[in-house]
Amino acid sequence: MPLVHMKDMLTHAHENGYAIAAFDLVSLHFLEAIMQAAEETEAPVILSLAESHFDYFDFELAMAATVAAARRASVPVAIHLDHGHSLDSAVRGINLGCTGVMVDASHHPFDENVRITREVVDMAHACGVPVEGELGYVPGVEGEDAERHPGEIAYTTPEEAERFVAETGVDFLAVSIGTVHGRMKGEPRLDFERLAAINERLGIPLVIHGGTGLSDEQFRRLIAHGVSKINYYTALSDAAARIIAANVRDNAQGYTGLMKGVRRAIAEECIRCIRLWGSAGRAGEVLKAAQPWREVEHLIIYNVEGIDEEETRRRIEEGRKVLSRIPGVRRVDTGTAVRPDARYRHAWLIRFAHEEVIASYRDHPDHVRYADEKFRPVAADRISIDYLLD
Ligand code: 13P
Repeated sequence: MPLVHMKDMLTHAHENGYAIAAFDLVSLHFLEAIMQAAEETEAPVILSLAESHFDYFDFELAMAATVAAARRASVPVAIHLDHGHSLDSAVRGINLGCTGVMVDASHHPFDENVRITREVVDMAHACGVPVEGELGYVPGVEGEDAERHPGEIAYTTPEEAERFVAETGVDFLAVSIGTVHGRMKGEPRLDFERLAAINERLGIPLVIHGGTGLSDEQFRRLIAHGVSKINYYTALSDAAARIIAANVRDNAQGYTGLMKGVRRAIAEECIRCIRLWGSAGRAGEVLKAAQPWREVEHLIIYNVEGIDEEETRRRIEEGRKVLSRIPGVRRVDTGTAVRPDARYRHAWLIRFAHEEVIASYRDHPDHVRYADEKFRPVAADRISIDYLLD
């Protein structure tokens, strides 16, 4: 069960002077390639899904595959929502299985960025999930030419970074020191002095967006100054595209013909980065240092009194809708006993993302209202137990 706490993972990287790759995935080929690379190099890895890519895949289906890949891995894995657009996106990400979230409000003025990020932190921390904030503006779009980027770079200042972390409570900070998302002509100029000053003041894991196009030496210097998570996508996408183009030139037939070799090409670029950033061979240490990510099953078995079968069904349906939207609720299942003479006739099986959700779910106004008005008055005969899952 190698899903681990992302905060423990990144703290280990920060304390030991290396960076963990956060590769954005846009298809099953990417997911398989990233996991192959991490397992071959015995590296911790972050599987990252960016909201700007949601036009290219179904987030819900991709998350089901991503969680399954993380669970069967032999290396420590975290699952991250990258560049979420809103608080609702972060809730959706956590409820689908993200163990870390970022909502990017960096294009807003400082106070507005603080307000939006603070809301996300309050919600996510109540679910046990760490948050990445971004301060300063890293322009560009992953997978596109950086020259087409909307807006200019806004550099992060050490003073604002300190205030931002104190006022929002973010666990990791993405900083703007000269990188740009997407494909670049030439080498970007990075402000390492600024990065060193930010790292000195904050002492928390720093994140670099726009990893594509940086030189080996630049990566080494970023990591030496506290960068513990590097976001990387465009170079993987280009490696895949080069293979597809070569397959076209070779007259490959059909979809599978065009895709031949794509997975390996992506994996090789991932392996290059993992080795360069120093996370290769660290899986064992991280598995020891990081708490495993454990979900909780909130189980209720009960009998109903005072309402008929039809009203019972109606209330269960309503509960499924209302409760599944509460932050940290991964799944709501309900059922009826197979044997009619069972001691308890009905069951709720509510899966929480993490132990922290037990309290935040209990006190959530939607849960309180539903439980007090629709459930408890007709289900006095019940047993509720929370199980920490192995
Ligand atoms: P690149 O596409 O430039 O590698 O950047 C990826 C990124 O920062 C995702 O958040």
